[in-house]
Amino acid sequence: MLKNRNKQLIVLLFAGFATAMACNQPAGTANKDKTDSAKVANADSVMFVPPDTSQIPHTPEGDLIRYGRELVLHTAQYLGPQGTVGHYLGNKMNCTNCHLDGGTRPFGYNYFSTHGRYPQFRGRENEILTLEQRINNCVERPHNGKPLPLDSKEVIAIASYVKWVSTGVPNGKHVYGDGALELKYPDRAADVHRGEQLFMDNCSSCHGKDGQGSMTADTSTYVYPPLWGPHSFQKGSSPHRVLKMARFVKAWMPHNKAMWNKPILTDEEVIDICAFVNDDRIHSRPEKRDKSKPDYPDPKVKPIDYGTGPYSDTFSEFQHKFGPYQPIVDYHKAHNLPVIF
Ligand code: HEC
Ligand code: HEC
Repeated sequence: MLKNRNKQLIVLLFAGFATAMACNQPAGTANKDKTDSAKVANADSVMFVPPDTSQIPHTPEGDLIRYGRELVLHTAQYLGPQGTVGHYLGNKMNCTNCHLDGGTRPFGYNYFSTHGRYPQFRGRENEILTLEQRINNCVERPHNGKPLPLDSKEVIAIASYVKWVSTGVPNGKHVYGDGALELKYPDRAADVHRGEQLFMDNCSSCHGKDGQGSMTADTSTYVYPPLWGPHSFQKGSSPHRVLKMARFVKAWMPHNKAMWNKPILTDEEVIDICAFVNDDRIHSRPEKRDKSKPDYPDPKVKPIDYGTGPYSDTFSEFQHKFGPYQPIVDYHKAHNLPVIF
């Protein structure tokens, strides 16, 4: 009870700050004026707030953190197909297109507690991955690229920045605002046709009717990133999962309108839209490059909304991808199988 009340209070307190962050701020200025809110960080159920960028020290370590932040915000410029540092990414997206405000926004695929939770067992690779390897995962899958050398200055800088974002977070712990918003699952499968209509009404103005987004005048990167097609994220990458994407979309899309505590779309609507976006029968996207290692060699640790079998349960690929999800969750619980999202 008390916990919930605290949460509501903080939600109210936080609303003003979140508005400031969500409204028309260029990516580079989003981290200002957080000092007061930072005082309340780390308490249970209190929104975590990363430190102010002005507090990054002017030391060699601080310079590395600043460079890491720069790479996360302007990834394509440095590491894209025509990147100035090296040609690693297969597309011109930036980390911050998904890890909003450089991984500092609540429920926006942020880095609040990331650093202290690695090394971590990852079911997709069936291995324990370090933070540096996890960074390369995103270079390879959503960015459709090839991995950077793990000891490169760039990987070390991004890892230093990710560590800095989680300043004050106890090692291995979660904080309020990391992870994703919870959704209520409809008791029907996602409706792709309804999703298409909702997409046209709520998303196409920026991401395009054809989902390809739009580029900056010099075509170095995106103003509005693509959601499918050859320049978008790969099949099997995290955002390719309907629920994984729907939780993010509910919190922050349509951009500059929705906020995690003031969503525009209902749970059913975002699930329908993300089913349309991620429907491989309608939309193509790049495939995994290194086919020598299959994803999720152990089906027991496959997320519920992963659309490719085999599974440790009896449900179809269609139901895993599009729902209804609750019967799958119930089955997993009844059979002592992990429930992973
Ligand atoms: C198209 C979207 C997209 C892009 C672009 C992207 N990522 Fe990710 N990334 C994700 C998603 C989705 C997750 C999983 C988040 C979750 O499970 O909550 C993730 C997870 C991560 C994690 C692990 C977070 C954790 O707490 O476990 C790291 C680190 C990361 N990404 C770094 C990067 C870096 C660095 C870049 C740029 C080189 C990048 N990502 C680009 C979508 C993206
Ligand atoms: C007003 C413009 C606008 C609208 C409308 C909008 N978006 Fe976005 N969207 C953006 C921008 C800009 C980003 C990148 C954010 C950044 O870089 O800070 C983005 C990022 C994303 C991403 C992660 C990056 C990627 O390309 O995979 C997804 C997924 C997404 N939007 C889905 C949606 C969906 C679904 C809708 C409709 C419900 C929607 N957006 C509506 C502007 C918009």
